Amino acid sequence: MTAALTREDVRSLGLTDRDFLRELDFTAAQLNSILDLAVRLKQLRKEHNEPELLLHKNLAAIFEKTSTRTRISFSVAMNDQGGNTTFLDGSSSQIGHKESPADTARVLSRIFDAIGFRGSEQAVVEELAQYSQVPVYNGLTDQWHPTQMLADFLTMREHQDEPGEQISYCYLGDARNNMGNSLLIMGAIMGSDTRIVAPKALWPEQSVIDQAHERAQDSGAQLTITEDLAQGVAGAEFVHTDVWVSMGEPKEVWQERIELLKPYQVNQAVLDLAGPHSKAMHCLPAYHDSKTVLGAQISQDFNLDGGVEITHDVFESRANISFDQAENRMHTIKSLLVATLA
Ligand code: CP
Ligand code: NVA
Repeated sequence: MTAALTREDVRSLGLTDRDFLRELDFTAAQLNSILDLAVRLKQLRKEHNEPELLLHKNLAAIFEKTSTRTRISFSVAMNDQGGNTTFLDGSSSQIGHKESPADTARVLSRIFDAIGFRGSEQAVVEELAQYSQVPVYNGLTDQWHPTQMLADFLTMREHQDEPGEQISYCYLGDARNNMGNSLLIMGAIMGSDTRIVAPKALWPEQSVIDQAHERAQDSGAQLTITEDLAQGVAGAEFVHTDVWVSMGEPKEVWQERIELLKPYQVNQAVLDLAGPHSKAMHCLPAYHDSKTVLGAQISQDFNLDGGVEITHDVFESRANISFDQAENRMHTIKSLLVATLA
């Protein structure tokens, strides 16, 4: 039986009332303490022994972009902890078109205990936080996906061959978007062997690379940013990818993106290059077959039968741990909520 978890345990983490806008605002110790708390909460839930540390707390969750995992994770996490979630979007509220982030934040923080946001611009979630009296969480912007990083690091910890050793991973794909930026910066903060493997045109902005190198000096992280697939992948325990065209991008970019990224598809040959025990990771949703409207369209238009960013055979193999990642979204978002609100 896992030892009971009290409010005092949680408060001792020193994260009460903190916003969670981007990984750069946190130390490795703070991020690790959120992960350690997630491990405990996950175990307590399994034992049906979870304390309700967020009783009667209310979360406003603004989703300007679509979501499955992030949305259900906030909602189930609040519910498990005795709290409640109210979802808002642009079309059924005044947010965005009729009311500014500053005014929205001032209204919501009179009534709610915390605010979650998913949308395009990082500046919007930063403005919400600036004007809010309650913690604000970034559930994805074009620039960062910090709650995904908590789940990814918990999942890599759980699947490491040698627990506690330095984690090594590579990211293949569009690296100037949220997932590429976040995986580079998070690895730099956490002291990981972190490789970004992508065509130069899709590397993170220089300012992000510079910030990563700065944090790596403190953490001892090894950073590799390369176009060379074999060099970037060799020996990496975890091989991450993400969709090649992200939410909000026009469909016209598919043609060019496929030409750029086809050599960086996660397939069996790439996993073999990484090593015999390497695992495939994907934040999901993934284009790995033609069973969705968009998946069917892309595979037909571009003659990509066996998958786009990840092949169907790898996705359906034991090497794929993306459903563990998906489950861990909930445990880690719960940990973040408890750490900042309990
Ligand atoms: N990985 C992720 O953020 O999934 P959703 O878009 O479904 O929330
Ligand atoms: N890069 C993807 C991540 C989805 C979770 C997107 O922004 O659409």
